[in-house]
Amino acid sequence: MRDDNFTKENNARHLWHPMGAPADSMAQPPKVITSAEGVNITDIDGHSTVDAVGGLWCVNLGYSNDAIKEAISSQLYELPYYSAFAGSTNPTAIEASYLVREMFAEDGMERVFFTSGGSDSVETCLRLARQYHRLRGEPTRTKFLSLKKGYHGTHFGGASVNGNNRFRIAYEPLLPGCFHIPSPYTYRNPFNETDPAKLAQLIAASFEDEILFQGANTIAAFIMEPIQGAGGVIVPDASLMPLLREICDRHGILMISDEVITGFGRSGDWSGARHWGVKPDMMSMAKGITSGYFPVGAALMSGKVAEVFENDTTGEAGIFHGYTYSAHPVGSAAVVACVTETQRLDPRSNAAARGTQLFEGVQKLAQKYSFIGDVRGGHGLMTGIELVSDTDAKTPMDMSVMKRVHQVTYEHGAMVRLGMNNILMSPPLIISEQEIETVLTALDAGFATV
Ligand SMILES: Cc1ncc(COP(=O)(O)O)c(C=O)c1O
Repeated sequence: MRDDNFTKENNARHLWHPMGAPADSMAQPPKVITSAEGVNITDIDGHSTVDAVGGLWCVNLGYSNDAIKEAISSQLYELPYYSAFAGSTNPTAIEASYLVREMFAEDGMERVFFTSGGSDSVETCLRLARQYHRLRGEPTRTKFLSLKKGYHGTHFGGASVNGNNRFRIAYEPLLPGCFHIPSPYTYRNPFNETDPAKLAQLIAASFEDEILFQGANTIAAFIMEPIQGAGGVIVPDASLMPLLREICDRHGILMISDEVITGFGRSGDWSGARHWGVKPDMMSMAKGITSGYFPVGAALMSGKVAEVFENDTTGEAGIFHGYTYSAHPVGSAAVVACVTETQRLDPRSNAAARGTQLFEGVQKLAQKYSFIGDVRGGHGLMTGIELVSDTDAKTPMDMSVMKRVHQVTYEHGAMVRLGMNNILMSPPLIISEQEIETVLTALDAGFATV
């Protein structure tokens, strides 16, 4: 390993970072995180903070879970890799699929397709949704509907159903046949509706209207996050997902619940769909499936979908889709250990209680600082704070101010994440009451500089 001078001199010189302009990273090199313990991270200058981001919404069990580390390490010595393309498999992948299926059986999930991450999982769901309809004799069902403000990764399919234009415009034209309906974002929406339940009704009406306009028999699937994460932690009314589920059913449209963030306990339930009392047809998973210790994702299929593939008589049910690292033995070992540890530690109630503490703490800060335009959360450990420079006009706060708040908050003990004029937080689910207090105190210091 080279010394710290080498690391600092070469920071962002050869490595392009996701989600930022290369020149910006060169001008303002990213923080170099060198170690982590519990829910804390330490940078190259020895400064430690609570990681209120949980890596990237993923380190659900914190950084010190030895059971996952040991499982990964022993699997590396037993079998570091073998292909799982049809014709070969490995024992750890079989166990991992068994455990994941069992964990989401209550959501109606019966089959598991492993991937290397969230974008892969979304892509798998979208592609298999089209194939499902072909197998059923409805090959015209190829379109996808989704919510504005949604984030579904960066592959072309996922980017096409994404509902934030900054992930789209530079890469257009995207997949044809993808259409978007309004987000359950009470702070800003085209109806000027601030009541979440009324907004849910309006969105459901827009959804049905779009389906009738497109023709139900042209639509393969609708994808949504049960709580929109990267879009700013947008929590819908409890009625929204059930309303949309019912409309999907009535029109023969598959519902894909994108659980990449909400899966494995972040919402306070094992899945976001379960949090809202909905059984989707497919689920895309990643992040908490290994707590970030190894890149793994999974696309989960309900019995209804599995049956069509498994009882096919057309001869077209071959899944000609997948990844070199699908069902990777080391990734699978991480899944087995992480799912086992997640169930043993059962962080759901802590996620709910600490999530409420963080949400209420930020609401108090909003009373102190008028530039906090909106606070969102209250359903597990996902909290969003939207800053505005003019409360009446809801003008998004300047990026330079957002960056200053971020830096000062960091200096006072908490790493948070910026998503445009939003501060996003998704700490490990095992975070303590005291550590949440540290995050709130650090935010207070950051806000005091505005
Ligand atoms: C809801 C959702 N779907 C998909 C993705 C893409 O996952 P990945 O970055 O692992 O490809 C993300 C990433 O944050 C996400 O939040």
